[in-house]
Amino acid sequence: MGLFGRRPSSIPYDMFSLARSADEAKRYVKCERIYHKGQELAWDGKEILPMLLAKHGGIRIPADQREPLKRLFAIILWGELAAWKISAQLADRLVPIEAKMAATSQAFDEARHFYTMYDYLQELGYLPERLDRAPEALLDHVLGTDDVAAKLLGMQLMIETIALAVFQEVREKRLEPVLADLMAYYERDEARHVGLGMQYMPALMKGMSPFELTRLFLFQAKLIGYALWENKVLESDFKKLGIDPRGIIERTRAKQALAMRAAIGALGVDVDNERNPIFQAIAGLVEVVFPTDETRGRPLAQARAAIEAFQKVFIPPDDALSVHAQHSIKTARGKVVGSENFDA
Ligand SMILES: [Fe+2]
Ligand SMILES: [Fe+2]
Repeated sequence: MGLFGRRPSSIPYDMFSLARSADEAKRYVKCERIYHKGQELAWDGKEILPMLLAKHGGIRIPADQREPLKRLFAIILWGELAAWKISAQLADRLVPIEAKMAATSQAFDEARHFYTMYDYLQELGYLPERLDRAPEALLDHVLGTDDVAAKLLGMQLMIETIALAVFQEVREKRLEPVLADLMAYYERDEARHVGLGMQYMPALMKGMSPFELTRLFLFQAKLIGYALWENKVLESDFKKLGIDPRGIIERTRAKQALAMRAAIGALGVDVDNERNPIFQAIAGLVEVVFPTDETRGRPLAQARAAIEAFQKVFIPPDDALSVHAQHSIKTARGKVVGSENFDA
């Protein structure tokens, strides 16, 4: 810098002059739409939770399910805080204005998810405490990485889809009526957040070297390991709640497969979703970590089931993600909004 020169600036003045292909331009329009939809569909947790508590006459849950539900949703509570922090990190780090807008609106949503879940858990008698090692490691892994692509993959495509699988299960099983109704509100928002990952991931992966791509997929594999460990830790709580941990994994896998297909397919890579080695390996591992009643305690039968699962063709249901955009919710503008197309 010369004597009268200017210091380098943190303001990205070139943000409007980034070259874009037609496909990228379309994706950026969708990112921008995520921000505007977020504003239009924003709901008020201070209105909705009391409304649902009044509708159902307070929280109603069998005594033996109260503690397991608290433990499961304590992970969701701190997960919402992590999502809030991660989306704020992304809002700062992402350069294209539309992606920045989408991440900013996500931070706004996650703040609402966090305080509403805290209010709900207080009704349940929850006192904040440190999480188990597995969920903490999963969240810290994504919070701590400096790599924007790994952060986006970890948050928007992996953690969000795990949360969506749990929310869907809790809503469909109607474990607790207030929470079941509340899940519809969360699902609508989280589905938009997965949309940001699907739309913006290709731009981040485009210029990556094979080494960088390998590093990214190793990061993903580590996350999957933490997620399976978390599921194992929660296994007895899931059972007490009548939730099959394998069902959660299957649902998560379907959502992740659709999201990854959208993200990686955009790079021109022919994605054979039915033969994805990462998802095949998970399917095999699940047979060992979460044996069925038939294979439990029988190592040979487990090994056979693992090989079969590894070889099996996996076709995720088409509506695995769009289902979350179908719920009617009451927005802060006082409107009841019904289903929408999931094209975020
Ligand atoms: Fe959230
Ligand atoms: Fe989210």
